[in-house]
Amino acid sequence: MKIKQFMTQDHKDCDLLFAKAENAAAKDDWTTASQAFNAFVQAMERHLGIEEQELFPAFEEETGVKTGPTEMMRMEHDQMRVLFAEMEYALEQKNCDDYLGIADTLLILMQQHNMKEEQMLYNMMDQHLPNDFSHWQKKFDEWDED
Ligand SMILES: [Fe+2]
Ligand SMILES: [Fe+2]
Repeated sequence: MKIKQFMTQDHKDCDLLFAKAENAAAKDDWTTASQAFNAFVQAMERHLGIEEQELFPAFEEETGVKTGPTEMMRMEHDQMRVLFAEMEYALEQKNCDDYLGIADTLLILMQQHNMKEEQMLYNMMDQHLPNDFSHWQKKFDEWDED
């Protein structure tokens, strides 16, 4: 399995949790929304962390390119984190309109971001980095232990 495959699958897993939280919020089911939202943010922080602390540095080191796509991706991750915080606030307030509005903004940002990774950056990584999961498995397991 290549980087592109397992990271694309992880995008899909995160998307499912996002949708679960959104559906629950739309139905005013704040208990389910809150559980799903927390699971979503946890899965996203793991995903973003693996990119920022494992994959991106390895790619930057291997290619010598530090100010290109990885810099852009890190900036977009931070934009996502701002929206996570705003969604969390809307959730605490049980403010359905605010939650769904911010969720829409996040969804567009995530879709565009993930497309850039899946169509460009992960392909470049598979060309420059060890492109089998066994190489990364141990590092990822460490993330899951925390
Ligand atoms: Fe990313
Ligand atoms: Fe990603």
